[in-house]
This record gives sequence, structure tokens and C-alpha cells, in this order.
Amino acid sequence: MARYQNVRGTRDILPGESERWHLVEELARETFGRYGFREIRTPVMEPTDLFVRSVGASTDIVRKEMFTLEMGGDSMTLRPEGTAPTVRAFIQAGLDRVAGGDRLYYIGPMFRYERPQKGRQRQFHQIGVEVLGSDDPLVDAETIEMLLYMLERLEVSGTKLALNSVGDRACRPAFREALREFLGPRLQRLCPDCQRRYEENPLRVFDCKVERCAEEIAAAPAMLDYLCEGCRAHFEAVRSYLDGYGVAYEVNPRMVRGLDYYVRTAFEILSEGLGAQNSLMGGGRYDGLIGELGGKDIPGFGWALGVERLLMVMPSRVAGRPAGPEVLVAPLGPASRPAAAIAARALRRAGLRVLLEGGDRSLTASLRRADRLGAARVLVLGEREIASGQALVRDMRTGEQRMVPIAELARLAEEKVREA
Ligand code: HAM
Repeated sequence: MARYQNVRGTRDILPGESERWHLVEELARETFGRYGFREIRTPVMEPTDLFVRSVGASTDIVRKEMFTLEMGGDSMTLRPEGTAPTVRAFIQAGLDRVAGGDRLYYIGPMFRYERPQKGRQRQFHQIGVEVLGSDDPLVDAETIEMLLYMLERLEVSGTKLALNSVGDRACRPAFREALREFLGPRLQRLCPDCQRRYEENPLRVFDCKVERCAEEIAAAPAMLDYLCEGCRAHFEAVRSYLDGYGVAYEVNPRMVRGLDYYVRTAFEILSEGLGAQNSLMGGGRYDGLIGELGGKDIPGFGWALGVERLLMVMPSRVAGRPAGPEVLVAPLGPASRPAAAIAARALRRAGLRVLLEGGDRSLTASLRRADRLGAARVLVLGEREIASGQALVRDMRTGEQRMVPIAELARLAEEKVREA
């Protein structure tokens, strides 16, 4: 029989690793709650056009990275990101008409057909937040501060915050023209992708990874020099709020981000520990997107982090809560099994994680298994024990063994759970 393998660019998250995922997810939920965010869950599939309209037809994501299915005359795409689906659901539920807007977060898999390498997968996971309905620059700073607080709680260090303003619909056209003018005479020396970008959306040349292109555009004009009054004031305000929080950042006038919906604030958090794929998370403001997708024209701001990348830079001492059994119940011989099953149930109801050993295992095999799973105690129930109304409890750490009345097990376990 052929042995199946997971699809290229995907990964299994096995027990032993999933505990750290829980830790990150729980800490994220808890942190977001403190800032007034609530969870939204949307399908992993959306109409293809949703991403074309929002992420942008000239982006790498839409041009070559979407998993698109054509079925029954419909075109559906596995979500490559979470902002457009969140906005779609928000509008569909009529929440864009509720005064004050909303603060939403999501956790889940995203899909991009990229060349897999360290820190880059085809199915990866994002934790993202979206603030819908406010154009206040304090929201930008507060939401970035929340992100840094979360990283701090996860003991992630060695990160850098890169900040830029990419202007808005008022000031970007002039910048686009200035950039075209600059690129025109250099066009022949740019890669074919950049030549196409020049035609479609010249800002995307800043995404180019080709070294020769990077050299050619080193002296290109910067959006920051073309900001209109509103964008300039917004950027200054975001900066001063960040300064107020004591948050360190670097202004990077070259950073445009790989999605078209951004206006004004754009930012990324880079981590030394990640290697070539050094972007741990990114986000920004997307005023105009909600209106563009058919909702009321209210502003938005958000970010998303890659969970796989986060786990790569989280110190290993930040481990999740162990999920394995605390107690392994080992019946010795078939006649002991009913009593063992009842004892296991009582312990579970008292709040312990219990594995009831099945089959006809020897005590040695059960002890070895308990050891491998990290169970603190083994409860041995043989016919002799049951007849005397006692169970043998072995402490796996010290090897100490003692007899405990079976009728008292649940009470003792409850006390232990309350102590913990
Ligand atoms: P993004 O920068 O495309 O932004 O993705 C955010 C994060 O997802 C990246 O910084 C990275 O950690 C992770 N990521 C992206 N692609 C991959 C991949 N192939 N493998 C592993 N991790 C990956 C967005 O998606 C925006 N929706 C963020 C946002 C929310 N903006 C406003 N609101």
C-alpha cells in the first residue's frame, strides 16, 4: 500500500506541539478581550472576486498565489488572508450600520500558493484583528501597542517595528506619476515583473525581491514626501501616540506591503530570528475598503501575524500547559476492568485528566506508557486490590506507592484539583 504524505507546503501539528498553539491562541484571545475585541469566524472559502477587488489584481497574491476552485459555475478561493472575509461578513450582517463600529479578531488557516521554504507555507495560520469604523490615529497606535504587549507576554524579543504612510486616494496619484517618471528611463534595466508593475501599479516595484531592481529604485521618490495634509497629520499623530507609549519604531519609506487596500499607516514587525522570511506580522489602515466592498464607507485598521513564524521566535521555555493524562488507570486482568472504568470516571468527574488503560497490558508496559505520556500517577487495580476495596497509587516521580481506599479516590482527587 502506498503511504500517503501531507500535501507540499502544509504541516501536521502533532500533540506535544499543539499545546504551544493553545498557549498562543489563549493568550491572544485573553489579550484581545482586554482591548475590547470579539471573535469572528468566517468560512475558509470566499467568492474569488472578493480578493481580486480588495487585495488587488496586480498583487502577487491575486496574480499567482490563490487556490481557486471553479465548481458548478462558481469561482471560489481559499482565503489567502483574513481582512477581506471579515469585512465581507461585517457588511453582510449589517454591522457597518451600527454606530461606533466594531473590534473583531480571527484565528485560522490561510492559503497561498507560494514556494515553500522555512517560515513560508501554502497553508499557514494567522491571528488577526480588525478595528472597523474609526479613523482615529489613536486606534492605529493602540492596536500596535496591543500587538507588542502580546509579544511581550509571549517573551518574544529581537523584533523591530517598521512604520510608513502609503498616503491615500487624494495624494497617491501624484506620487504614482512621480514614480513612473523616475522608473521610465530605467525600465529596460528592471525585471519583467517590474516592467509589468510599471504599467499596472508602479508602487508594487517596492515588493520586488530582485537585487538589480532594488539597486535601480534605491533613489526613487518616497511616498512620505508626497503626503497630503490629512495623511501627514495622521502619520504625525500615530507617531506621537507611539512615542507616548514609549514604543520604538523605524520609519521605512520603502515599505508598501503586498496588498493594495492600505492607505495611510502601513507597518510590519520584523524578527531577526526568522531568516529570509523575516516578516512576523503586518498590517495597516484600509479606509475605503468597506465602501469599496459594498458597505457603508467607514474606515478600518488591522494587522495579522503568522502563527508558524511566531512559534519559531518564541523561546522554548514558553511552553504550553501539558495536555497529557495526569493519571493512568491500569486494571490488571479482565475482571478488574469494570471497577477500573468506574474509578477512572470518578477521577475525571473530580477534574483530573485520566487515561484508562485498555487491553490486557502488563503492569510494566503500563508504567512505561505512563512515563512516556508524562502521567504523574498510576492507579493500579488488580483483583486483590478490588477485593480489599483499595487501589495502589504509584507516584511516577518518586516511585513511592501507597494504598488508597477506592471509595475515597474521588474526594482525594477533588482536593488535589482544588489545591492546584
Ligand atoms: P500579510 O502581510 O500578507 O498581511 O500577512 C501577515 C502575516 O502572515 C505575515 O507577516 C506572515 O507572518 C504571515 N504569512 C503570510 N504568508 C505566509 C506564508 N506563506 N507562510 C507563513 N506565514 C505567512 C495580511 O494578510 C493582512 N490581511 C494583514 C492585515 C489585517 N491588514 C489589515 N488587517
